[in-house]
Amino acid sequence: MKGIILAGGSGTRLYPITLATSKQLMPIYDKPMIYYPLSTLMSAGIRDILIISTPHDLPRFEQLLGSGEHIGCKFTYIAQEKPRGLADAFILGENFIGKDKVAMILGDNIFYGTEMGEKLKQYTEVDGGVVFGYQVSDPERYGVVEFNSKDEVTSIEEKPKKPKSNFAIPGLYFFDNDVSKIAKDVKPSERGEIEITEIHNAYLSLNKLRVCLLDRGTAWLDTGTFESMNQAAQFVQVIEERQGLKIGCIEEIAWKEGFIDDSQLAKLAQTLIKSGYGKYLLAQLKK
Ligand code: G1P
Repeated sequence: MKGIILAGGSGTRLYPITLATSKQLMPIYDKPMIYYPLSTLMSAGIRDILIISTPHDLPRFEQLLGSGEHIGCKFTYIAQEKPRGLADAFILGENFIGKDKVAMILGDNIFYGTEMGEKLKQYTEVDGGVVFGYQVSDPERYGVVEFNSKDEVTSIEEKPKKPKSNFAIPGLYFFDNDVSKIAKDVKPSERGEIEITEIHNAYLSLNKLRVCLLDRGTAWLDTGTFESMNQAAQFVQVIEERQGLKIGCIEEIAWKEGFIDDSQLAKLAQTLIKSGYGKYLLAQLKK
């Protein structure tokens, strides 16, 4: 399975913070935001990953993450000239996806939960689409799932004024190889974007969409506003300080997944020693 991280957008809701830099490069406590979604894909065993951003920001992502070889991955970069919507990623990424299945994650979505990677690995052989439902107090900000009395999914609406449930769809999606074809048929919405929810509804009408509910023990954090970005940083800090274990540490995950060996991890740690991040990596080797 291949992976896509969509890290575009103009980040206007975070102005002036994002006037000169990409939102997904902003720090969430001790690492850049994109490390979190990247680590989520990696923990599902996905190593061949396309990173999509604006022509302006893409070189920064390349500077940060390079070819991916150092963490046993392969990164490809494509610029999205205009913010045409999330579903555009499957059109831009069509050649990259090739004959494979694909998981897409949004560059500003943070997931944390027990055995998250192990759970996600079961969706890498998806036939159709798998998306998730997560209970939130403000569903109108997201794509929202509607269920009937038999708990079957009947529709998915993008940012409804009157949400039909409290279950939002987080920005992590698993699709089979039909997704690019389906994306090309999506008509732009009123806001001029080809919406990801249209892809969900297309799979739903074919009876090929599974909505898996994430339990309350899973954290799905949003970074779309000043408040939620700060809360995400605090969450990471609290857990990391309490446990002495890092969240979203791509080098550690690469090593745990067997993408790199002990000596490669030790080498990576050296450049990161001064901030303490490198010491953490070395400490993992001694466990
Ligand atoms: C996007 C999607 C929405 C999804 C959300 C998750 O919204 O359109 O369906 O629930 O991401 O973060 P946006 O962040 O573009 O407003």
